[in-house]
Amino acid sequence: MLKSGFAALALVATASCPVALAQDTIGTLAGVITDARGAPVAGAFVQMKNAERRLNFMVITQEQGKYSSSRLPAGKYVVQAIGGEYQSAPSTPVDVAAGKLSSVDLTLAVERAAPLPPAWPGRSPGERGAEAAAAVGGAGPRLAEGEGKAIIEAKCMTCHDVQRIVRSRGNEARWQQVLRTMTAYAQGSTIAKPLTSDEEKALLAYLSTNYAPAPGAAARAKPDPFSRLPRTLVPPDARGYMVVEYELPNPRAEPHEVAVDSDGNGWVSQRVGGRLGRLDRKTLAYVEYEPPAAGSPIVRLNGIRRGNGGELWMVDGGPNRRFLSFDPKTERHHHFIDKETGEIHDIPWDKVQVCNVETLRGFEIHDYQVVIRGVRSGRKTATR
Ligand code: HEC
Repeated sequence: MLKSGFAALALVATASCPVALAQDTIGTLAGVITDARGAPVAGAFVQMKNAERRLNFMVITQEQGKYSSSRLPAGKYVVQAIGGEYQSAPSTPVDVAAGKLSSVDLTLAVERAAPLPPAWPGRSPGERGAEAAAAVGGAGPRLAEGEGKAIIEAKCMTCHDVQRIVRSRGNEARWQQVLRTMTAYAQGSTIAKPLTSDEEKALLAYLSTNYAPAPGAAARAKPDPFSRLPRTLVPPDARGYMVVEYELPNPRAEPHEVAVDSDGNGWVSQRVGGRLGRLDRKTLAYVEYEPPAAGSPIVRLNGIRRGNGGELWMVDGGPNRRFLSFDPKTERHHHFIDKETGEIHDIPWDKVQVCNVETLRGFEIHDYQVVIRGVRSGRKTATR
């Protein structure tokens, strides 16, 4: 177990985060959606996109084709409507100002793109689906003949089956990266046998030849983002919601699990890049925190839960084999651990003074926190 210096990092990150939005920074966007003949359309989707804030809001049109949202952070919005088999063109950017009403009317005059078959989030349809379907049918692809086959059978089957490998595609650099990750997993393992450098060379050539990227994969056009919305209008009893979507800065982050802190803010663990993200419930501002460095640079944040003291616990399922705790309270404070109950209490920053830190030779002190251990006295005077 590692109780990390995570909280200290949090102080650094919050310093650069956007200033909290008060109620008076929120504006309203409203309008009417009509079909090509000018008739109002109820039950259509309306997306309001604020590219700068990476926020998308989506509401449904009501009777007379009316929509509105009165909770939009001030900024520039592009509005687009989607209903039945038609959608509108994106609007020109419109300014939403604090406490003001802006309006955009749109016409559903463009035929929608064809519906998309199922796919992994962030991957193009069919990029892995066909191979996965074949695997479910029992007749998944087998290893190609060649020098690498025997190496894989001897060294790579300890932790997972061959499907993991034959379903992957990549150029030499990508396979090199996979081998580096697998080597890191094997280090310290009691069952995995490491690759020799000759084996690694042979395997790299075998994998990048036999499991190269599918032809044309890079050139494939990006699908229309609305291709998976329903093709029928939303019925009256289901029109009362608003979807708020935040697009992560790193589209490859593979957000894995979410947790909610005691203030209701959303936290997300990222499997690629290993960062922890926080979306503020009120301001919709997003910040990311980098876990402390460890032996391997590959960090795969996975399961995350809120602990009894409001702290977040998460698994780093990567080669570092650790779990971490993070204190979501980012203003400076100290900790008191109750030896009897194990509970952690926060102590206000100004209640404890630390002196003589400057006498610690050979260290450059940037920050410190005090952890005090003891028991809470019956009079409940100790903390909080
Ligand atoms: C010590 C255990 C272990 C061994 C040995 C191992 N792997 Fe893995 N492998 C994993 C784990 C865990 C994952 C899933 C997590 C990940 O992708 O980081 C994985 C995932 C993969 C993936 C999918 C990666 C992706 O990004 O989709 C490929 C490909 C792969 N392994 C190839 C190999 C090859 C080739 C070998 C032999 C050189 C090998 N593995 C040996 C543990 C192992």
